[in-house]
Amino acid sequence: MMLKSSWKEKGFVDEPIPEGIDLKAEIRRMAKEKNAVIMAHYYVSGEIQDLADFVGDSLALAQQAAKTDADIIVMCGVHFMGETNKILCPDKTVLVPDLNATCSLAESCEAGEFEKFVKAHPDYTVISYVNTTAATKAVTDVVVTSGNARQIVESLPKDEKIIFGPDQNLGGYINSITGRSMLLWNGACHVHEKFSLEKILALKQEHPQAKILVHPECKGPVVRVADKVGSTAALLKFAISDDATEFIVATESGILHEMQKRCPEKTFIPAPPNDSTCACNECNYMKLVTMEKLYNCLRYEWPVVEVDPEIAERAIRPINRMLEISARLGL
Ligand code: 13P
Ligand code: SF4
Repeated sequence: MMLKSSWKEKGFVDEPIPEGIDLKAEIRRMAKEKNAVIMAHYYVSGEIQDLADFVGDSLALAQQAAKTDADIIVMCGVHFMGETNKILCPDKTVLVPDLNATCSLAESCEAGEFEKFVKAHPDYTVISYVNTTAATKAVTDVVVTSGNARQIVESLPKDEKIIFGPDQNLGGYINSITGRSMLLWNGACHVHEKFSLEKILALKQEHPQAKILVHPECKGPVVRVADKVGSTAALLKFAISDDATEFIVATESGILHEMQKRCPEKTFIPAPPNDSTCACNECNYMKLVTMEKLYNCLRYEWPVVEVDPEIAERAIRPINRMLEISARLGL
């Protein structure tokens, strides 16, 4: 198929959607016809989560990719998630609806700079958060997600010297709960850093019975007022099983869709960011994934995710190590 220059320039297929079609039904029809699996992260829009074959956190998405027998994986999420899938499934076609959907954490850790840092500390074990590019994973010993970081760090000997990158907030939180003193790279997620402690405390005054759910990519002061700190999947699980009926949620607001769906009788209040009058906090990268781009991506089988084979060969080791430790620990 000829790639149009406008697609390449834009990073997604910009063909008009045929008039009058039922987008959702057409996407499902093409997925079946092409033996494609549609995977979605909790931060993409609710309508995409609803039509996906599988919705999950970063850990579950990687675990699912590792065992899929589909020919095509459509990753409705950000680019590093597509790269992880491609590294795990080199013979499959991996698609992302928009190549511009990157991640501020992945961008805060340029592989060459990180490698210099790693080389300057030759006796350190290198842990990288999954929110990194394939090239950064290639200079890593073990990958973690927010769903298994604590357990993976604790599985290493107590006196092991560790570099943790790129999220300094997640790394600082893991240091605080494990008593380790990992060396931290100074990256951050621009969405999670924006939550306002003052606004969360004001919401808590208005809703004194509400429990505060916080993703560990948030800054320390926000994490410290949490009733539950965890990955998106862990926060969802807590919301389902806990007795509370009101929750203040300090993570990307896409997760509220599944929370509300699973707990229709409970109230979920998005925690607001510090820099606007907006009530909720969205990841502009995740929200680049739209139904129209998903439709075109399946129809034209582009954008494909490519990973340099030499980088993939090195990056698969720390990803597999994460999956093996997680399986051993029942995560
Ligand atoms: P989890 O899905 O692991 O909670 O991570 C959140 C995130 O920021 C994904 O980009
Ligand atoms: Fe990256 Fe933050 Fe967006 Fe997650 S929410 S994809 S960490 S920028």
